Amino acid sequence: MAVAAEPGMSTMPSHDFTTLDATALDTATAYRLLVGAVVPRPVAWITTRGKDGVVNAAPFSSYNYVAHSPPMVAVNIGTKDGQLKDTARNIVETGEFVVNVPNVEVMELMHGCSADYPPETSEVEALGIDLLPGQRVKVPRVAAAPIQMECRLERAITLGRGLNTLYIGEVLLFHLSSAVFDGRHVDSVKMRPICRLGGPLYAELGTLHNRPQLQKPPK
Ligand SMILES: Cc1cc2nc3c(=O)[nH]c(=O)nc-3n(C[C@H](O)[C@H](O)[C@H](O)COP(=O)(O)O)c2cc1C
Repeated sequence: MAVAAEPGMSTMPSHDFTTLDATALDTATAYRLLVGAVVPRPVAWITTRGKDGVVNAAPFSSYNYVAHSPPMVAVNIGTKDGQLKDTARNIVETGEFVVNVPNVEVMELMHGCSADYPPETSEVEALGIDLLPGQRVKVPRVAAAPIQMECRLERAITLGRGLNTLYIGEVLLFHLSSAVFDGRHVDSVKMRPICRLGGPLYAELGTLHNRPQLQKPPK
């Protein structure tokens, strides 16, 4: 039965979509579609410390800020072969992590941390990454990252069929490099942030569009 178009709804026949029932998709397909559709994603380069003291670092792009009073960030960490990834295990065991904000200058180093290192091997030692001590948490920060946020685990929420857990952290300290922070604002253009797209792509900023938030509906 034809459905009458609602006001404002296009009836153009040229709109050609593939429509997929998300509830029937296998896990790999759902993942492939999500990482292509939810773009651009900011990247968190997360440092943690294991119970054994080993410092771990890895990139995560299923990540964002989720509250600002107090400031909170969240990252979704999947399981690998049914096991917690080192970052997730360390967050659960210590309740602490640092989100290091990567820019284009540290991208290669950060990407190197996504390789499959065994738990007893520290990515930061293997790749020679310089660290600074955490001040509120025992987890060190990546010295070359322009911003580092020391976080305490607020809560962990396991989602869906159990493959994904969302780790929400309260930001206890911001460390802001003078190269990008003027005492009030972060110059996010100067910072040259990177984002993750679908597939193996990172991207830098492109064209900027200056649009202050509207107080009234546009004419
Ligand atoms: C740019 C990028 C983004 C990633 N985002 C995520 C993510 O959001 N969640 C996740 O579980 N894994 C993500 N990964 C994969 C992890 O970085 C990878 O599994 C890493 O080995 C985990 O390290 P760990 O075991 O030391 O914690 C991402 C990898 C890259 C390169």
